[in-house]
Amino acid sequence: MADSGKTFETAAKRWEGVGPYYAMFPIRFADAVIKKHTATGDTVIDPFAGRGTAVFSATGLGRLGFGIEISPVGWVYAMAKLGPAPQEQVDQRMRDIIEGSRGYAEQARSLPKFFTLCFSPSVRRFLLAAREELDWRRSACDRTLMAILLVYLHGKHGQALSNQMRQTKAMSPHYAVRWWEKNGTRPPAVDVAEFLRSRIHWRYAKGVIRANGSRVFLGDSTALLTHLARHLREHKVPKAKLLLTSPPYFGVTDYYYDQWLRLWLLGFQTDAYVTRGPYQGRFTHADRYKSLLNKVFHQASKVVADDAVIYVRTSKDPFTRKATLDAVLSAFPRKCLTERFRPFRKPTQTHLFGDKTPKSGEVDLVLIPTSKRK
Ligand SMILES: C[S@@+](CC[C@H](N)C(=O)[O-])C[C@H]1O[C@@H](n2cnc3c(N)ncnc32)[C@H](O)[C@@H]1O
Repeated sequence: MADSGKTFETAAKRWEGVGPYYAMFPIRFADAVIKKHTATGDTVIDPFAGRGTAVFSATGLGRLGFGIEISPVGWVYAMAKLGPAPQEQVDQRMRDIIEGSRGYAEQARSLPKFFTLCFSPSVRRFLLAAREELDWRRSACDRTLMAILLVYLHGKHGQALSNQMRQTKAMSPHYAVRWWEKNGTRPPAVDVAEFLRSRIHWRYAKGVIRANGSRVFLGDSTALLTHLARHLREHKVPKAKLLLTSPPYFGVTDYYYDQWLRLWLLGFQTDAYVTRGPYQGRFTHADRYKSLLNKVFHQASKVVADDAVIYVRTSKDPFTRKATLDAVLSAFPRKCLTERFRPFRKPTQTHLFGDKTPKSGEVDLVLIPTSKRK
C-alpha cells in the first residue's frame, strides 16, 4: 500500500499524501518555506490550495492555515486530512454504505459500458451508494470516507477499485474502453469491505494531525477571499504572515477533465469532464488568466499583514511567469522581489503522460518586506 522506499512513521506522513493530484507542492518544500518565514501561531494562506499541502503543512507545524480551492476533489482531500473523523465512525459508515449498496443492483447494471468494464458489479453498487449517500460537503465522517475512496478509485490493477488505469488522471471513457478491450483486462474482483478496511486502518495507524481551526473553503478565490477576510476577523485570527501558493499554470492542466471520474463519484454528471466554469478548464484565455491572478493577489493583499512574505511558485514559461510577476508586484508594491529558478530534475507528470514538449521548469517569486531585508 505504501510506496516502497518511503517511510510512513508519523501521522503527518500517512495523511500528507491524500490524495492523487496534479502540480502539488512537495510537502518538504512547504515545510521549509513555512518554517523559514513564520513562527508558531502565525497564519498562512493559500488561495489556490489544491489538495491543501500548504495548509496541512502549516497546521502540522503549529501555525494556522487557510486556503481556498475551486475543485471539489482537491477540497475533499484537503479538508479530510485537516480533520479526519474518528476511525470507528469511518469504518462504520463504510459498512453502512456496503449494506445499503444492495439497493443499487438495477442502477449498477444500467450504467454506461465504461463503468461495467472499469468496476466489478459489487464495486459499482458500492460506488453508486457512496455517490448517493455520502454527504461530503457537510459531514466530516462522510468526507473522510469519500477522500479515502477517491484515493483508491482508480489506479493499477489490484491496487485500486478499478480496471487498469493511472492513479493521477482518469482516462477518457472512449479511450479507456478501447484500451481495456484491446488488452483484454477485466475489472478486479475486489472484496470492497476488506479492501477499504485495510486502507482505512493503514491511514489511521499512526494517528491524525490535531485539528486546530485551519481550513480550506470550497469555491472561487476571486469571490471567497472577502469571505475569508470576514472569517479571520470574526474568529480573531491575525492576518497572514505568509502567503504561500502556486496558481494554475497557463494552458497546462485541466483539473476537471483529468479528474472526471472522481468528480462523478462526488455526484457530478458523467460528462463532468466537459469544461464548465471560467476557472474549471485549462486556463488558455490570456486576458482571463491575467484577470484571475490580478483579482486573487489584490484581494489576498487584504488578508496578509504588512510585514508578510509572499511566496509564489509558478512556471518559468514566459507568459505564465510574467502574468504572475505583474500580478504579485502590483498587489504587493512595497516588497523586494527575489526570483529563484528551479529546473525540473525529474520528468514532469505531463511528460509521463506522453507530452514530450520541452518543459520550462519552475520559478519561485519571493517578496520580502523591506523591513525584513538584511
Ligand atoms: C498548481 S495547483 C495548486 C496545488 C497546491 N499547491 C497543492 O499542493 O496541492 C492550482 C490550483 O488552483 C485551483 N484554482 C484555479 N482557479 C481557482 C480559483 N479561481 N479559485 C480557487 N482555486 C482555483 C485549481 O483547481 C488547482 O487546484
